[in-house]
Amino acid sequence: MAFRWAILGTGPVARKFALGLRAAQDAAAVVVASRDPARARAFAASLGVARAVDSYEEAVEAEVDAVYVATPVHLRRAHAALCLARGRPALLEKPFAGAAAEAEAIATAAREAGVFCMEGMWTRFTPLARRLAALREEGALGAVRLVEGAFCVAERPDPAGSLFRAQDGGALLHRGVYPLSLASMLMGPPVSATATATLGETGVDEDCAVLARHANGGISVSRASLRVDAPLELLAAGERATARVSAPLYRPSRMRIAKTAPRRGMGGGGGRLEKLRESGLAQGLLQRLAALRPERGATVFAPFAGNGYGHQADEVRRCVEAGLTESPVMPLAESVAIIAAMDQARAAWGGGRDDHSKR
Ligand SMILES: NC(=O)c1ccc[n+]([C@@H]2O[C@H](COP(=O)([O-])OP(=O)(O)OC[C@H]3O[C@@H](n4cnc5c(N)ncnc54)[C@H](OP(=O)(O)O)[C@@H]3O)[C@@H](O)[C@H]2O)c1
Repeated sequence: MAFRWAILGTGPVARKFALGLRAAQDAAAVVVASRDPARARAFAASLGVARAVDSYEEAVEAEVDAVYVATPVHLRRAHAALCLARGRPALLEKPFAGAAAEAEAIATAAREAGVFCMEGMWTRFTPLARRLAALREEGALGAVRLVEGAFCVAERPDPAGSLFRAQDGGALLHRGVYPLSLASMLMGPPVSATATATLGETGVDEDCAVLARHANGGISVSRASLRVDAPLELLAAGERATARVSAPLYRPSRMRIAKTAPRRGMGGGGGRLEKLRESGLAQGLLQRLAALRPERGATVFAPFAGNGYGHQADEVRRCVEAGLTESPVMPLAESVAIIAAMDQARAAWGGGRDDHSKR
């Protein structure tokens, strides 16, 4: 029998998830809930969901195996509580929460209820991200010391839209969380973070850069923007090899692995070879040759299925059927640590948040 999903919310991300489920293993969205009955019906009709209901409460009461929560971040805790109180395994959209206190409260509620709960950090479940994690676990990358990633896409500012909304928008919460989470996957959870940001008219960070220290001692730099474009790539540098994940880092399918080749030193001895190498003639030649030199390393191609959103659903199914209450790939404590680091980062630029689920 197919694994049955209820979907809370009918926004653009819920739609992507419903489409993604088509490529998941034996899964189906059987109920969708909206605050507006017409919206629920339209969503159900266009995506082939059997039942449309007009309250989130009704959806969690339905005969389902898990609930996917795709409502705004400031409602995360309330909607997680709804699922967990009814004993429904919950997949909560990323970011896991808007602040560490909320994230901690969700994780505690899940543990106390003994009900499966996971952040829908869907990128982490793509085949390419799994391969990258496996390379680290097997030691092929050596100790990962530095991870850099950027999620910068220019948007037209929309004060009411989820990205710019004063209540729960911002480049870090919506975008910077992707490279930060991948860095956490490779170097352990962030243990401290600092940041700088440029705030926009709604008060949210529109450009930011977060510098974090991770559990293994490594450093990550996560850049995010709502206003400018930049290559959406990730670089993970280990003592044995460097992985360059091609854009877009949030939905990766290709990376290049190049062995680290430590140099013996900078030279500086003033020998004849060094003089020759530093001559204008030699440097001119090297510049021309650089264009012809093949890129170092080997390409790994690991395509995602469908639109890529279904892999996280496969993980939820696997865990629930195995009787697990957390995913070893995206554990609750790690989701909480990532939100805590984002709190620290925002505090560094003076944009720390309260626990807004209490408002
Ligand atoms: N995985 C990804 O790729 C990705 C990308 C961006 C964002 N996200 C996350 O996914 C979630 C959904 O993102 P989205 O862009 O689809 O969000 P959104 O459009 O702001 O809201 C999603 C839905 O939540 C419901 N909702 C319930 N209470 C609401 C309220 N007070 N205000 C507005 N909507 C409310 C609405 O559905 P009904 O009115 O039909 O009930 C709405 O359509 C967010 O938490 C976001 O952080 C994920």
